[in-house]
Amino acid sequence: MAKKKNGKSIKVVLAYSGGLDTTVAIKWLQDNYDAEVIAACVDVGQAEDLKGHAARAESAGAIKTYVIDATAEYANDYIVPALKANVLYEGVYPAGTALARHLICQKLVEIARKEGATHLAHGCTAKGNDQVRFESSFAVLAPDLKVIAPMREWHVSREEEIEYLKAHGMKVPVKVGSPYSTDENLWGRSVECGVLEDPWVEPPADAYEWTKSLSEAPSEPQNMIIAFEKGVPISIDGKAMSPLEIVSKLNQIAGAHGIGRIDHIENRVVGIKSREIYEYPAAVVLIKAHQALEKHVHMKDLSAFKTLVEQKIAEMVYGGLWFTPLMKALLAFIESTQEVVTGEVHLKLFKSSATVIGTRSPLSLYKMNLSTYGASDGFNHEAAQGFLELYTLPLKVQSVQASQVEGTNGINAEMLGHMNTKIKTQAH
Ligand code: ARG
Repeated sequence: MAKKKNGKSIKVVLAYSGGLDTTVAIKWLQDNYDAEVIAACVDVGQAEDLKGHAARAESAGAIKTYVIDATAEYANDYIVPALKANVLYEGVYPAGTALARHLICQKLVEIARKEGATHLAHGCTAKGNDQVRFESSFAVLAPDLKVIAPMREWHVSREEEIEYLKAHGMKVPVKVGSPYSTDENLWGRSVECGVLEDPWVEPPADAYEWTKSLSEAPSEPQNMIIAFEKGVPISIDGKAMSPLEIVSKLNQIAGAHGIGRIDHIENRVVGIKSREIYEYPAAVVLIKAHQALEKHVHMKDLSAFKTLVEQKIAEMVYGGLWFTPLMKALLAFIESTQEVVTGEVHLKLFKSSATVIGTRSPLSLYKMNLSTYGASDGFNHEAAQGFLELYTLPLKVQSVQASQVEGTNGINAEMLGHMNTKIKTQAH
């Protein structure tokens, strides 16, 4: 454990969540670093009473508390770009916890500069991903500030933390009773620990808070139309809303239909696998709708390449690499693909699934007169014959080669005389 710094006090900005770890960390930083602790509580839509958090931080000894509403910024500058990139870590996790950490870091550094702080601190443990996101972001945004991670330095159990608070006559945060470790923000909810650590155990009903179970979900489907403009969701059923409003509303509507439950065995940055339960109602609906619209407006090669870029972005978000030149470049690529992502998606929400039932875009590449098997057909059927001759040409040449290799009485080039394109067997 670290020692006091010879009576000289340091000024630390701590990422404060209001939970047990970060409350203990305030006291611990004072005791072990003789630190003046400024608690920074960033509202990224975690649906908690943050004012209560401020009072708690101060009763734990923080000299000052910041409570910052960053919800709109989170929606516009983080969730929207992530949606444009259809961010799904390992194909399933919309990476909300990871995404929000970057914004929290940005706010922490702003506070640190304003307060002339010398240190930044977070309450992450040694086994998680969040330490990686905090410290990678700090490394870019404030490489001159030192980082303290009390929960990594002080290996302590939850029980010992509670004892520590009690021994100092401090109140224990109410959420301590929960059997799970949870993390929430506007984009979604993450739940781990307790019985969930056994991947064979079905998640108990109390693991979920934002989504209804299949049996509780309404027995009537609900249709809705989501409109996008240049990749940004702009309305639900014709009612214009901000991204923040759309995500909040969809979390409620889709959550009520039991949409957005994800059970994931994931690969952490530190090399271990963990099991996490997620609730991402709005994210699941919006990503599905956005992907469906992109199918209309993107050419085949663009779609295929964008998928690779999306995967890279998802890994970098998960790995705490938002503030990097590569991310900036990849997001610029994504942005350029969104110019044409305008249109509407019709969805049916029913019993834990969101199904796309219709799509349209003024910029669609889908042309009915080319696709139709009906009378309005505008496709040039004769052109297909020549196309097929060239498309199959390398296959036929390869077939001749196969006969040569096998040394059998197979096909030779002269036998392909029926083709317009002439090929000959090479003389030695
Ligand atoms: N596994 C997720 C991630 O690394 C969520 C981590 C936080 N989860 C939690 N229940 N506290 O992004």
